[in-house]
Amino acid sequence: MRIIAKHTKGKVLTNDGLAISAIAGKEKLKDPSVINATIGTLYDEDIKFLPMKTVDSIIRSMSNDRFYTYSPSDGGKEFQEAAMKWVFGKHYEKIKKEMYCKCLATPGGTGAVSNGLYNALDPHQTLLLPDIYWGPYQNMATCCDLEVVEYPFIVDGKFNLRGFIEYSEMLIAKQKKVATILNDPCNNPTGYSLTNEEFQGLIQYMNSKKDIPFFIIYDIAYFDYHADGPEAAREKFSYMMQANENVLFNIAFSCSKSFSVYGMRLGAQIIVGKSKDDVKEIFNTSCFLARTRWSNVSKAGINMLIAIDNNEDLKQSLFRELTQASHMVLKRAQLFTEEATQVGLKFYSYGGGFFMTVLCEDGMKLADQLVQEKIYVLGYPKAIRIAICSVPLNEIKGLAKRIKNTMDNLS
Ligand SMILES: Cc1ncc(COP(=O)(O)O)c(C=O)c1O
Repeated sequence: MRIIAKHTKGKVLTNDGLAISAIAGKEKLKDPSVINATIGTLYDEDIKFLPMKTVDSIIRSMSNDRFYTYSPSDGGKEFQEAAMKWVFGKHYEKIKKEMYCKCLATPGGTGAVSNGLYNALDPHQTLLLPDIYWGPYQNMATCCDLEVVEYPFIVDGKFNLRGFIEYSEMLIAKQKKVATILNDPCNNPTGYSLTNEEFQGLIQYMNSKKDIPFFIIYDIAYFDYHADGPEAAREKFSYMMQANENVLFNIAFSCSKSFSVYGMRLGAQIIVGKSKDDVKEIFNTSCFLARTRWSNVSKAGINMLIAIDNNEDLKQSLFRELTQASHMVLKRAQLFTEEATQVGLKFYSYGGGFFMTVLCEDGMKLADQLVQEKIYVLGYPKAIRIAICSVPLNEIKGLAKRIKNTMDNLS
């Protein structure tokens, strides 16, 4: 006799980044010589969690009412405006003119990706993913009863538009529709950022397919840590406006990263497209999902974002803090790049964000072996991910060599 529903079968969380980070964190507490490069959270050069002071002071001065009570399930109008203004920056007014946009609050970018997937495909259809991606995408696809097919994401150090097209054509032949998740800029795990030209190429291809719907879940989790700064991160929105009616963007915005409020569970799902009906319908379905899956998000988070939006000084002070934090991570990326090049490691080129990723034969095996060296990283089939967001410069120093030695000893 089986008491629980059949569709629960096989849904066991394994190899989860948060769980692995917790283990590595405990090991680090026991032994300070451990390097914990697993966690996608910002830590300073003293390996202390780095909050944004601006955000911290807003949150800590909130009344009980503004902090603890329920928030509207969709986040409310003020939040929606504030989130879209933050995300689109100087492109906001234009994008509102050129496209239909709707926004709702979600518990982190995770909620926005998950809502997007539910809207994108029917059970048993196929989702297009790159061949290296943030683990929860696969589990979300499983929850929606979707198949997954992967295209080679980066070839010869560049975004593989040709591969994207090839696999899209296969899916068009099979299901007359393409749905994909694009985590860009500052991809997790690779650190790669598509160039504006690469992004434009993508839009041009999708536009050329006229009657074929493209549902793009555009995961911008790390965009505020773009190596060329926040303005550069937002430039792609000007190309997004060139997309035709057959293309729909479900933007997943993560306040966890932009505001350093990881556990507060705040984010936004921003639906953008030229088809008014589609945008409205996805918004309606997503509000329905929100109310049934998590009901509403942290009120303190909602009020924090509204407070920042209402006060230009606060906004500027937060941007300054973000710039400093980005520089800190960038310095770590530069040092790792320098040393990894010297010792002959192969790695993806870094365009910003929290991670750098080294290519190898068997990433799971290498990650396991590195634990013997007291180095904790996340393993992928053919790569290991190093969370430079949480490893100080003095621990980055020499890390590439230690990885290379371990790799050589394995082969
Ligand atoms: C690629 C990617 N997308 C989305 C998220 C969502 O984060 P959150 O739900 O905390 O906003 C993460 C977090 O690690 C991520 O790495």
